[in-house]
Amino acid sequence: MSLIGTRLELRVDNVAHGGWCVGRHDQQVVFVRHALPGERVRALVTEETTRFLRADAVEILEASPDRVEAPCRFAGPGGCGGCDWQHASLEAQRRLKGQVVAEQLRRIAGIDRDVHVEELAGAPGGLGWRTRVRFAVDTDGTAGLRRHRSHELEPVDTCLIAHPEANRLGVSELVWPGVTEVEAVVSGTTRDSAVIVTPRGAKLPVLPEPKASSAVLRRFKGGRTQPVRGRRGIRENVGGREFRVSAGGFWQVHPAAARTLTEAVLAALEPKPGETALDLYCGAGLFAGALADAVGPEGRVLGVESSAEAVRDARHNLRDTAWARIECADVATQLREWVDMRVDIAVIDPPRAGAGRVVAEQLAELRNRRIAYVSCDPATLARDLKAFVEAGYELTELRAFDSFPMTHHVECLAVLDRS
Ligand SMILES: C[S@@+](CC[C@H](N)C(=O)[O-])C[C@H]1O[C@@H](n2cnc3c(N)ncnc32)[C@H](O)[C@@H]1O
Repeated sequence: MSLIGTRLELRVDNVAHGGWCVGRHDQQVVFVRHALPGERVRALVTEETTRFLRADAVEILEASPDRVEAPCRFAGPGGCGGCDWQHASLEAQRRLKGQVVAEQLRRIAGIDRDVHVEELAGAPGGLGWRTRVRFAVDTDGTAGLRRHRSHELEPVDTCLIAHPEANRLGVSELVWPGVTEVEAVVSGTTRDSAVIVTPRGAKLPVLPEPKASSAVLRRFKGGRTQPVRGRRGIRENVGGREFRVSAGGFWQVHPAAARTLTEAVLAALEPKPGETALDLYCGAGLFAGALADAVGPEGRVLGVESSAEAVRDARHNLRDTAWARIECADVATQLREWVDMRVDIAVIDPPRAGAGRVVAEQLAELRNRRIAYVSCDPATLARDLKAFVEAGYELTELRAFDSFPMTHHVECLAVLDRS
């Protein structure tokens, strides 16, 4: 008989990757949301597989001292799926994320290390930081945020983790007929903003006027975007350099993240004038720009990025440093061509899926003295660190940053030296 819809009373043990805690019911593992380690809860079963159950803690019988009242009224069982840890103090959130990263490193890479997650500046109370918010749109044109693991919408009028300027665009107050998705994008460092709409069919419907938007773009299948009104990109300022970033392209979502990570990468790599540096998965050239300034005209920076739009941005952003070059290519393909090149240092910042063993081995062939690996997924980071260690590197430093407060996400920087 299915357990879905039943309420189980259980003790919650550890935290698990993805915003869950782990409990047990009759020897069966139960992944519980809205709970905290140490709590006794009544949990409503929401999913059942042959190996485990998923459940929402709907009643807290014994509360953890880390529990707080969720600041957002849309968070909680059955509510908006955007946040995982609204019910934990910020300090506890960082502690839990540190435990998750440590556990992934231990289990997947065999690396034992305590992980301390650093707070980022500029988001008091862990709110108001999200510079990109993706709204799903119902067939009747209502925009909202998705419930957890569901296609259903929660009609959120103000998202508390969204940047105030993203809320000011008023996406959820407008009706969007003929549209499946609306993304609000704002700059963390300038006043630029944009709205990206994905039409339901081939034709762009008549769109409502966003309240404070400087640009409207249309997204095509496959992700390409095209301006409907205003500029294609938004501007960001980091370390005295202005970056143009296509509204549909990648940029760190927390306003302080780009600066914090750039400083951390520079501190880790210690680039010296005249050195050759790689920036793999370079996006709009964030790290390449800082490395170019550090190695100077006697040095060289080579960036690799597969998105043509991001490559155009990166080349534009680095136009004043002729010694920085951006290749539009897949990283593994490009590294095959560079097999005989001398490289001193490399930063690598792959998407969530990670870089993979092939890239780790290719990078090791270049015999660079140090690699800074920036990652937004501790599981793929751990898998790739194992490959780097097997290819002759040693993990010498690991930093973690709370770039996504209230959610389970965490950004890591791993420093690898040739062993
Ligand atoms: C996490 S972002 C990092 C961007 C940049 N480092 C930053 O911080 O702004 C990852 C980037 O890798 C690019 N990318 C994904 N797969 C790639 C591949 N196989 N080869 C090259 N670039 C890739 C994406 O387009 C994206 O711009």
